[in-house]
Amino acid sequence: MQTTILGRTNLTVSRMGLGAGGHSRIGRNADLTDAQSADLVRRALDHGVNFIDTAEGYGTEAIIGQALQDRDRTSIVLSTKKSTRHEQVTPDALRASLDQSLKHLRTDYIDLYNLHGVVPQDYAYLVNDIYPALQKAQQQGKIRFVGLSEMFNEDFEHTMLQQALADDLWDVLMVGFNLLNQTARAKVFAQAIAQNVGIQIMFAVRKALSHPDNLRAFTDALVEKGQIDPVDLDAFPDFLLAEAPSLPDAAYRFCRDEPGVHVVLSGTGNAAHLDANLASFARPPLTQQTRDRLIHIFRRVNSTTGQAV
Ligand SMILES: NC(=O)c1ccc[n+]([C@@H]2O[C@H](COP(=O)([O-])OP(=O)(O)OC[C@H]3O[C@@H](n4cnc5c(N)ncnc54)[C@H](OP(=O)(O)O)[C@@H]3O)[C@@H](O)[C@H]2O)c1
Repeated sequence: MQTTILGRTNLTVSRMGLGAGGHSRIGRNADLTDAQSADLVRRALDHGVNFIDTAEGYGTEAIIGQALQDRDRTSIVLSTKKSTRHEQVTPDALRASLDQSLKHLRTDYIDLYNLHGVVPQDYAYLVNDIYPALQKAQQQGKIRFVGLSEMFNEDFEHTMLQQALADDLWDVLMVGFNLLNQTARAKVFAQAIAQNVGIQIMFAVRKALSHPDNLRAFTDALVEKGQIDPVDLDAFPDFLLAEAPSLPDAAYRFCRDEPGVHVVLSGTGNAAHLDANLASFARPPLTQQTRDRLIHIFRRVNSTTGQAV
């Protein structure tokens, strides 16, 4: 597994991160037992993944805590998140939630503590009222670095993250990006590189890129909206599948090799998919010609996350 330095945190992280949320929640949505989900986590670790992302809202922190029991905590980078959507977070609620996350994860520190799914209209409140509580938790040694994740399906153009970069308070950002919607390249990554901010990617595969039939539904809709020129779709996705064994493989490698991206989260509740995804991260980059073609085809797309057509 390739590793990299996660921007200004200076942490060494695997290029593939295991995402314990999304639609799979490491098997919570596929009826895996807790023990089977914990095995999935250990399987990822055994193959060189050292980055795990979870959240208080996923119901998977305790499984991760269980999976890490016999592991060297110092070799693992744990990211978790405090929900900010559909509730008014108070400093007291943040402290209580952080303590609960520490308990579930069976650790006394969290490497990356993120405010989860932040929408532009909540951002100023979170900076003014909640950021000081995060700083306090850092001083207490409960968290090492602070970050934000965006609400991609309400903020396709990354407005909140642009404000966050302007403020320069955050060590890591979790960004929606995939080969369909590449808006983060100009809106987030260019500035994040300049400021050495750590970048984790979510939505690399999601629904659109998990199966060719799904992809077709998305590209048809984008043609209809005028965001893709139909002539550009000639031989797509065949040219991609000529150099990648599957769409998810191509999708993860496309994100991995995007300048500015450190970790690409992969969410799965399926051991065979996990193995396939581990293999994808070991494959070489897509050719430059293929990357250029993908960038060209989807250059105008800014209206989908890859989850809903
Ligand atoms: N706002 C936020 O903060 C936020 C929002 C969303 C996600 N996240 C984080 O980002 C992580 C990644 O989430 P994501 O959903 O965007 O992950 P993803 O890796 O882009 O997509 C996961 C989906 O693809 C399927 N999949 C994975 N590998 C596959 C393969 N080899 N073949 C076919 N299907 C495959 C999974 O189903 P199977 O289970 O069947 O494999 C799942 O439905 C989450 O776990 C979470 O940690 C954060």
